[in-house]
Amino acid sequence: MDNRPIGVFDSGVGGLTTVRRMHEIMPGENIIYFGDTGRVPYGTRSPETILRYTRQDVAFLRTFDIKAIVVACNTVSAVALETVASEIGVPMIGVVWPACRRAVSVTKTGRIGVIGTTTTIKSGIYERLLHRANPDLKVYAQACPLFVALAENGRVHRGDIVIETIAAEYLAPLKAQGIDTLIMGCTHYPLLREVISAYMGSHVYLVDSGAEAADHARQLLVPAAEGKGQTQYFVSDDPEAFRGLAELFLNSKISGQVGHVDIAKY
Ligand code: DGL
Repeated sequence: MDNRPIGVFDSGVGGLTTVRRMHEIMPGENIIYFGDTGRVPYGTRSPETILRYTRQDVAFLRTFDIKAIVVACNTVSAVALETVASEIGVPMIGVVWPACRRAVSVTKTGRIGVIGTTTTIKSGIYERLLHRANPDLKVYAQACPLFVALAENGRVHRGDIVIETIAAEYLAPLKAQGIDTLIMGCTHYPLLREVISAYMGSHVYLVDSGAEAADHARQLLVPAAEGKGQTQYFVSDDPEAFRGLAELFLNSKISGQVGHVDIAKY
């Protein structure tokens, strides 16, 4: 048994898709969540900037005696995880490989779509890992840069003309390719699941990269003792703005304070 907390971070609320799944499948774990809400989005920034942000996010989480870090952000997993993981003595679990593994196991036609931030899609990491698993797969990738801003503003519901119009524009090329599996390669996107699923059709399996990372963490890590773990939340911008949106997405109340972190100090 290892009761030390697991650090989880993202640029904002997206990583809560991982936390929600961790609460379901690993209820005994203590979690420290950091959302870098003062600097969201990450996905339109350069790999150099994301690496700098990641080092600071990790340095903050390491002020706690954590047993591991779950990188609940595809953009960081794509361009900074390998470098930072080699610099620290704490295991780091990303979201990209667990998402690929699920997609490879569920696709029947071998036609897989990937949506993500501009930086994730530009990195080509999903194509590389999917083709490493099976060179015959057909992979179609599409950047969806406006999705994160809409999710951070709670514009995620069906019937909202803005999100429906933008989703249709981004997803039309993937629908035209007749994919049967779509990797939501950004942890913010499961917040748009209903809109994405309604457009793509129920025959397309949606892979939730954040939830897959939580499953992977459960397989890899020494678990905490049974019982109910505590989750503490920290952000780099307004804690109260985060709380409102976070409670909506977690579908539960956050007990205790959301802490504020001056992340530039780390
Ligand atoms: N949720 C993150 C991801 O999975 C980052 C989104 C962003 O900040 O652009 O890529």
